[in-house]
This record gives sequence, C-alpha cells and structure tokens, in this order.
Amino acid sequence: VAQVPVIGVGLIGCGTVGSGVVELLTTMQELYTRRTGKLIQLKRILVRDSAKAAKSLTGRFPSDQITNNPEAFFATPDMPIVIEVAGGKGVVADYVKKALTLRKHVITANKSLLAAEGSELFALARQNNVSIAFEASCGGGIPIMTALQFGLMSNSIQAVYGILNGTCNYILTEMVQKGKPYAVALKEAQEAGFAEADPTLDVSGRDAAQKLAVVASLAFGVDVTDSQVWSEGIDTLDSADIKFGSELGYTIKLLAIGERLDPPTADKPTRLSLRVHPTFVHNSLALAKVNSSFNALSVYGHATGQTLYYGRGAGRLPTASAVVSDLLNVASGWYPSAFSTMRLWCDHHEPVQTLDRAQLISRYYLRMFAKDVPGVMGRLSTILGDAGISISSILQHEIAIGQYVPLVVTTHQASQGQIRQAVTNMESSGVIDGKVTSIRILDLPQG
Ligand code: HSE
Repeated sequence: VAQVPVIGVGLIGCGTVGSGVVELLTTMQELYTRRTGKLIQLKRILVRDSAKAAKSLTGRFPSDQITNNPEAFFATPDMPIVIEVAGGKGVVADYVKKALTLRKHVITANKSLLAAEGSELFALARQNNVSIAFEASCGGGIPIMTALQFGLMSNSIQAVYGILNGTCNYILTEMVQKGKPYAVALKEAQEAGFAEADPTLDVSGRDAAQKLAVVASLAFGVDVTDSQVWSEGIDTLDSADIKFGSELGYTIKLLAIGERLDPPTADKPTRLSLRVHPTFVHNSLALAKVNSSFNALSVYGHATGQTLYYGRGAGRLPTASAVVSDLLNVASGWYPSAFSTMRLWCDHHEPVQTLDRAQLISRYYLRMFAKDVPGVMGRLSTILGDAGISISSILQHEIAIGQYVPLVVTTHQASQGQIRQAVTNMESSGVIDGKVTSIRILDLPQG
C-alpha cells in the first residue's frame, strides 16, 4: 500500500470557529484523505488560555500540544500550513506575518486584518512563495470567495449587494418577525456565537464594511481598504420605522453595497460606490427573505446577470467548513499554484476611487411627525421639489400624537446631498416636530 503523505497544520485560536475546525478534522479525516490524497495532521494549537482550550478539546486533541507560547508554536517541525481563526489585528497580525515569513501557507478568517492590510499580506506571501486563503473571512459557510475568484472570473462585475453580518440579520429578523426589543435580540445573537467579541463591530456596520472591502477587492479587481467603505449601523434604528416600512411592503436589512460607476476601461481608475447601511428591501426580492443568521450575496456579472449565494453566514461549523475547505485546497497543492500564477488578489490591483458620500444615489424613505393643519403637505412637497427630489408615495396615519401625525414619504432616486438639504429645510420649517429619519430603499439593476 502506497504511503499517504502527511501535511502538518498549526491552528491559532480555539474559540467558536477553532473548535469547529478541530471537530471537522477529527471526525472527517478519512473523507479528506480520500479527496486530497494527503493525511492532514493537526500538530499544534496556539491560544491565549491553554487550560481553557484543553478543557474544551478533551478527547479530541492532546492537551500537551496546546500552547500559549508563540515561539514553541512556530518552532513546531513539519508544519507548512497555519490556520488563523483568532481574529483581530495587533498580536494576531504579527502571528500571520510571522507564519508567512517562515514560509507557511496561511488560512485565515480574519476580515479585519485583510480589509486593512490585505495587499501587504498578499505581497508578503508572494515574496515567501506561499499563499493566503480566506474563504471564511466573508459569508461564513457560503463559498463566496471561491465564486468571485474562480467561478465568475470570466465576468466584469457590475455590482454586489450583500447581507454579510449574521448578528445584524438575526437582530433585525427577531425585531421584524417577533417584535423583540433590540437588546434582547442582540444578547441571543451573542449567546448563539454569531457576534464578534466586541458586538459594536457588528451593530455599527463595521464588520460588514470590512467584509465588503474584501469582497469588492475580488469582485472589481481593485486594491481597497475598509477605510474607504462608508457605514451606518442598525444601533440607531427605531422600531416605528420597521413597522411603517412593512406597511409599504419593505423589510429592513443591513446591506453592504458595491457598485461600479463607469464601464470598465484600462486607462481610467475604477470608481466605486461602497457603503453599508440599513436599507428597505422590497418583500418581493430574494434578499428580503434572507432571515436570521443567514447571509446572502447577490453578484451582477456582465455575462451572468444576477447570481445569488445564500447560506449560514456565521456560527461554528458553517465557518469551520470554509476554513477546512481552504485547508484541503491548500494541502492538495492546486490553490498555492493558482495563487502564484494568477493575478486575482489585491497586491496586483490598482487603488480604487470611491464616491464622496454626498454624491451617493438612492431611493429614500423619510419619516417625520408633521403638524396636522392645512398647507403642511404642500409646504413639505415644495421643500422636496426645491431640492430636486421627486416623491414616489406618501403615507399619513390619522392617529395624532399631540398636534403631530406620523408622515412617511418615499422618493425616487436622489443624492445624499439633495436629501440632506431637504431634511435640513424640513427640520427648520416649523411644520414638523423634531428630526426627520431617512432610510435608503434598495433599487436593483435590471438583469
Ligand atoms: N460577527 C460576524 C457576524 C461573524 O455576525 O456575521 C461572522 O463573520
């Protein structure tokens, strides 16, 4: 019987995702050997708290191979692949760079690191003749990175629309469908293991912004960092707007949107609109039906038209599935060879130009409390008309709160600058109480 080559692997981080990786590697070894022709052997685990990790892995992994000492970890012989699922920057970024410098292939789920320093890391990998695989960085178990890198390579991508944060999608679904308060739904998402260690990253929209930077770099072939993605979170949403939106046939989602602004040309820099914000999605659209911790990414290729990727975007085994699939692709040898020959990653790409916030175009939902007296509607529509904004619908409830009634206006496409001007004029018009709430409405390309 021919000897099966052994490939040694090191694991950094053993929380929710790391323990899922250990479970897959220990329970599915035979299938993986059959598929790759290699015996994948997990050799060492680097964690902050080795006693805690040893306890959680009892019976699955020898506790004397779990260490909190980075030197001991990196000195492990015959360990050409390192998986990093610790997350974050700081010392973890140093570990990733150290692994690359030691000529180890890196598999990472670390969207914040890739979104901030992707091109430097890819260049470092290339200098050292190794590869970086990162399927788990966006969309959990959905093979979005594989689709963008390889499956859609023949397309020029026009736009991407994603629900890329499982925590926010879980919270919004619970608020919409069960009327749960925001804080209760957030706690449940944390208990289920979807949320980041600091859930502010989730609810502020920054986690989705980091993922959009990684997605946009592959989709549009640009070098982009998350500092170029503008974001607004779900933490300031009012449940009254969720209710009014549903009366108009919309579901609220935190969408990550990337749109190409000009047809691709070789001689001009790529201009993109890149943003994350709460968005009303019409109930007839597939994205409106993506619920709970599920994620989805809709990608518009010039040849394919719309394609849609859907699945579990967070959680232990779904994310571990993406990590281990990367591991098998690297261990089998084909991915490192593709990485060294193809020009799909951002260290080969040109910088991108992103659109200024005021120029971002969208349809809008505007909600205010208006005085219930003659002439008010005329006054407000004049303000919108003066800003060049065309009204699509108006909804007024008869139930007054004091002298004011809730009034909802939806608009045709307008720039953020036009909306800002109209909102300022409405707020100082004397016919409304307090602030105007504005939420964008999704308008998809045809095709
Ligand atoms: N906190 C992330 C989410 C985990 O909720 O989607 C997966 O990246």
